Amino acid sequence: MLPHFVQRTYSRLKRNLWQLPLTGAPGPFRSEAKRDGDLAAEIAAYEKSAGLAHGAGSLPLRTLLRIEQLLPEGEVSSVETGCGKSTIFFSRISKKHRVFCLDDRDAGASSSVGYFMDCPATRMEAVDVVFGPTQATLPLFKGHEPYDIVMIDGPHGFPFPELEYYYFYPHLKQDGLLVLDDIHIATIGRLADFIAEDRMFELVECIGATAIFRRTAAPTFDPFGDGWWEQGFNRRRADFNKHVHLLDGKRRKPFSFEGRF
Ligand SMILES: C[S@@+](CC[C@H](N)C(=O)[O-])C[C@H]1O[C@@H](n2cnc3c(N)ncnc32)[C@H](O)[C@@H]1O
Repeated sequence: MLPHFVQRTYSRLKRNLWQLPLTGAPGPFRSEAKRDGDLAAEIAAYEKSAGLAHGAGSLPLRTLLRIEQLLPEGEVSSVETGCGKSTIFFSRISKKHRVFCLDDRDAGASSSVGYFMDCPATRMEAVDVVFGPTQATLPLFKGHEPYDIVMIDGPHGFPFPELEYYYFYPHLKQDGLLVLDDIHIATIGRLADFIAEDRMFELVECIGATAIFRRTAAPTFDPFGDGWWEQGFNRRRADFNKHVHLLDGKRRKPFSFEGRF
């Protein structure tokens, strides 16, 4: 075991290197997209002219490249909430990429829509944009097909990532990836904890504040039922044998939930 200060310095160095533009990294540390050998260089060139991110902040190119490495082989069907650099990336590695985002083109240079639409590397013909707040568009949207990757990086306030998770999890293929960004935000971190303990997912890795999960073979949790007691996160925290102590000092028997657990 290395001394603590060495581990800390190493982590800091790794974090700083991760945020560097790809072109600033020494040759052996530059990676490429498996499905498109020119993509990393094209995005890196765009970052030089348009900036590393738009106004709402972008994923580092390295994180996107790592996510692509983790995808199962073959054609990709993808979807994301929010847009920007990730949209450029998915437009090139996916046969079809769907985006649910706000139309912020009136924000000029800081627009996340402008960031991907103005980029010569974007394959616009592969992108299907659904404009509007996801809180309004997702509940009405009927055109989902099975996805190989779902990325949640739109509105970050509680409970919006949860809402997006609800509308997407039934459509993720087995072995597909669920990417949840900004898990340093407390409520999103709690969602990541929940998903990590759910039988439908296994945590693959965290890259900085981005968590990547893989869909297991477990049956899809009924989106129209209840069943909180079947969910790993709840089961591990519930004491099903405990008496319930009432305000008036009386005790009630443990909950039975009709013998369902
Ligand atoms: C952190 S950025 C996404 C960054 C992107 N993944 C990238 O790599 O560049 C958040 C995005 O969510 C969008 N957004 C914010 N609130 C939203 C909402 N209620 N519905 C849809 N999109 C929203 C923002 O306009 C922005 O495009």
